[in-house]
Amino acid sequence: MKNKMQMVLACVLIMFVVVACGQTSSPSVPSSPAAVTAVIVPEVEAEVQADPGASGVGDSYYPGFGNGGYDVTHYTLDIAVTDVSSGKLTAITTIEATATQDLLSFNLDFIGFKIVSITVNDVTADYSRKGQELVITPLKPLLNGQSFTTVVRYTGSPEVMQSVALPVQTGWIIAENRSFVLSEPDGSAGFYPVNDHPLDKATYTFHVTVPEPFEVAANGVLTETLDNGDTTTFTFELRDPMASYLATINIDKFEVEEMESEGGIPIRNYYSSDLPEEARKPFARQGEMLDYFSEIYGQYPFEVYGSMVMNTEFESALENQTLSIYGIDMIDYDDMEGTELTVAHELAHQWFGDSVSVADWSDIWLNEGFATYSEGLWTEHLDGREALDDWVKFQYAEVATYPEYYTSPGKPPTDELFNGGVYVWGGLTLHALRLEIGDEAFFETLKTYFALYKNGNATTDNFIAVAEHVSGKELNEFFDLWLYSEKIPPIPEMGLGVE
Ligand code: ARG
Ligand code: ZN
Repeated sequence: MKNKMQMVLACVLIMFVVVACGQTSSPSVPSSPAAVTAVIVPEVEAEVQADPGASGVGDSYYPGFGNGGYDVTHYTLDIAVTDVSSGKLTAITTIEATATQDLLSFNLDFIGFKIVSITVNDVTADYSRKGQELVITPLKPLLNGQSFTTVVRYTGSPEVMQSVALPVQTGWIIAENRSFVLSEPDGSAGFYPVNDHPLDKATYTFHVTVPEPFEVAANGVLTETLDNGDTTTFTFELRDPMASYLATINIDKFEVEEMESEGGIPIRNYYSSDLPEEARKPFARQGEMLDYFSEIYGQYPFEVYGSMVMNTEFESALENQTLSIYGIDMIDYDDMEGTELTVAHELAHQWFGDSVSVADWSDIWLNEGFATYSEGLWTEHLDGREALDDWVKFQYAEVATYPEYYTSPGKPPTDELFNGGVYVWGGLTLHALRLEIGDEAFFETLKTYFALYKNGNATTDNFIAVAEHVSGKELNEFFDLWLYSEKIPPIPEMGLGVE
């Protein structure tokens, strides 16, 4: 080397050769076993053998209800209502779910509206619609066990929906200048995309924006009221899992009444502000009812309870989770004691129907029979055993005198799910069970059944198994007779029977 300049040049030259050699030789001269494998077996994206999720969850009465292949954990309903009397709204439903199989596509139940966009994990997804089935195909298949988030943006007004299970309107219902949501069993798909079957329970967040001076009453706890100037946004959190048909959003001008049961259960009631004061009377004892049913069934399963009474006609009441709703026609001013029994009925559904839900709609007597017998138990609590016996005799005479209105509770007609039989005959089935196994085993059965299946689903067989286990008696014959006979069986202990 003659000078510094030559030394630098030499070094650069050597470095160039080393780097160049490294570059040219490495692809053909593997330097590690992993690289050998990579050369011999070229890496290919693993092929997922994914199938479409089922378009129904497998209900024996309504095979199209719900969907298969995933499990929803949380819904966030973000709904901005621009006009209450037409129901015009813009909405974003966010669905957090977990795949329970590899999924090429999956279904949601959704009726009406114009869909603006759908994303799965933030990527635009393809979709198609047929009847109530919304089929979503994500860009890449979802893997069994994978969590995924679906966001559906849509606008429009809810369609008028007729239930397939009974001849009434369900879903989002507009009554002139107010609206309410009454969905059992299939109305929810009429205002949000949903896995619409009680088997897939989830928690909910509602953000509902309404024009001033309207207010919102929805399920759960009101956590925020945001004044946006011309509109108000109400946020409700429902933190215990809920069956989709119990989701409710009611819009009106309300008076809110807050109280607490002696046992400490918070109550908030919503009354239309133009409702006569007298209409509140049958709701006065809800605190006592909550404490009483907590004592006999097990602790009230939710954070809060209350009723929404709207100054419009519903033709029914509904036990929406944490917030039962009533139309003004449910209040019978000439029979306020009878109306109080309806209040006890919807309230008792929070245990049986809402917390313990049917796994199959054919088992609806597990909801209605239990809620109806709860009316009898409330009567007994107030006025003693004789009053209960009178109640039983009256109900029995109804079924015996008008058999055409009462089918056997274990198999109601699919197009008349809420037949009188699932209520009255179903309730009497529980009274007959009480006489069959005795008070102690009977109340122990109700408690055990609730403890085992709360926050979940149960079948008639599950209930029978608990009753048999607790009483030590074989009861299949008893239940066959009571749930599936053509005629209501006799209750010889009370001298009741049809010839
Ligand atoms: N579960 C309600 C009750 O307690 C009846 C609901 C009937 N469904 C309806 N869409 N009206 O009696
Ligand atoms: Zn009911």
